[in-house]
Amino acid sequence: MTLSFVLDPPLTDRLRAEIVELWTEVTNAGGAVGFVAPVTADQVRPVAQAAFTGVADGVDHLLIGLDDGRLVSLLFVADNRFELKAHWRVLKRVMVVPGSQGRGYGAALMREATVVGRKLGLAGLQVTLRDGHGLDNFYRSVGYREVGRIPGALRVGPGDDRDEVLMWLDLR
Ligand SMILES: CC(C)(COP(=O)(O)OP(=O)(O)OC[C@H]1O[C@@H](n2cnc3c(N)ncnc32)[C@H](O)[C@@H]1OP(=O)(O)O)[C@@H](O)C(=O)NCCC(=O)NCCS
Repeated sequence: MTLSFVLDPPLTDRLRAEIVELWTEVTNAGGAVGFVAPVTADQVRPVAQAAFTGVADGVDHLLIGLDDGRLVSLLFVADNRFELKAHWRVLKRVMVVPGSQGRGYGAALMREATVVGRKLGLAGLQVTLRDGHGLDNFYRSVGYREVGRIPGALRVGPGDDRDEVLMWLDLR
């Protein structure tokens, strides 16, 4: 693999479509990125467009990972839109294309996000995850620690309430 990263790539129609496709594919493979499978691109698109608007407005950032030029991973670095929380950001929609998961791409993406966080002069980065996917182990493996948990906050289906787990990487 020849992995490279781009922060805030031009949001062309083609890239937007590729991201919607990746987001849909990741969800339908069981990923916890804001939806519960099955979803269609039409369901994902409006949520993705809102995320693109935050980036296009210069408030949020988009970090993409490319393997030989092909989109394989992404995350959004979301501003808290609250002055008292201007010194840290939330990483959202952390995802790797299903066919390439488990090969270190996610860890590499998170390491790059740390570099971005330091360049932005941030005090820390937070991620919020859906319990029950082993994701806490993934984030722990790249330096994050659990700092909070809202019991049963996420109703992913009838009788299936999951804890929402907050994890934090201190950059100070
Ligand atoms: C979660 C995700 C980004 C991880 O990326 P990845 O490329 O598959 O992970 P890596 O290969 O870099 O794994 C890094 C480490 O995390 C562990 N890990 C990764 N995913 C894991 C999971 N779901 N459960 C437990 N451990 C996991 C790996 O075993 C590895 O551990 P090691 O360092 O001890 O070998 C990716 O699997 C994904 O896109 N999942 C679907 C979307 C999703 O749910 N995103 C989370 C949003 S909060």
